[in-house]
Amino acid sequence: MQQSTYDTLHAAIIMDGNGRWATARGLPRIAGHRAGSEALRRTVESAPNLGIRSLTVYAFSSDNWRRPRTEVSALMRLFHTYLRRERDKCVENGVRISVIGRRDRLPLMVLPEIEAAEKATIRGDKLHLRLAVDYSSRDAILDAAKRLKGKGTREAFSEALGAGDVDLVIRTGGEKRLSDFLLWECAYAELIFTPVMWPDFNESDLASAVAEFHSRERRFGAVPKAALA
Ligand code: IPE
Ligand code: IPE
Ligand code: MG
Repeated sequence: MQQSTYDTLHAAIIMDGNGRWATARGLPRIAGHRAGSEALRRTVESAPNLGIRSLTVYAFSSDNWRRPRTEVSALMRLFHTYLRRERDKCVENGVRISVIGRRDRLPLMVLPEIEAAEKATIRGDKLHLRLAVDYSSRDAILDAAKRLKGKGTREAFSEALGAGDVDLVIRTGGEKRLSDFLLWECAYAELIFTPVMWPDFNESDLASAVAEFHSRERRFGAVPKAALA
């Protein structure tokens, strides 16, 4: 198993609660998604200061296509705008952007923005930001299995999936489930569920989650350290 050291923390966030945040304010759901993209911008800025070197965020699941068409197209437009607006800042701040998930169902206008963002930021070495869009962990696992044709070791499988083990998963919005996110990579991840709605999530929420992560003893199946003393 790959165990990352804590100065290379691989965190993942299920950015949930945008719709409820907006509804509670009498706003359309898309206003929540817009505020959510600001929360992502803030999070990307503060993550490196907290020892996070890789951050995978769930922006749109393969099951989210089931939402009303207007919400889906608004989300795709937002994704397009985010990539275009943030690209130069990411280059300046050493943030490498990768997009994971299926691309063949995304609107055509999004594809050049993805490619441009990935290409422009490829040398970023402070933070690897992985945006999961049209992402399903079960589909990713099936694809990796097909590619490896049954020959895969755990390590080969992890490599085929792209980023190794996740240390910490944060889900905002109060639900306590993974919703088909990084199921293989999270085998031993620490899970933190917070009631904070994603648009309200800020640096201090991220710092608290990282502090809680450090306060937990990860055992990977072994006995507690205290039992060895
Ligand atoms: C997360 O917020 C964003 C996406 C899934 C695209 P939601 O839109 O799921 O917000 P809630 O859960 O309905 O409040
Ligand atoms: C998971 O949230 C996907 C994202 C945050 C992008 P959902 O809101 O789609 O998940 P469920 O439907 O509550 O499980
Ligand atoms: Mg939700």
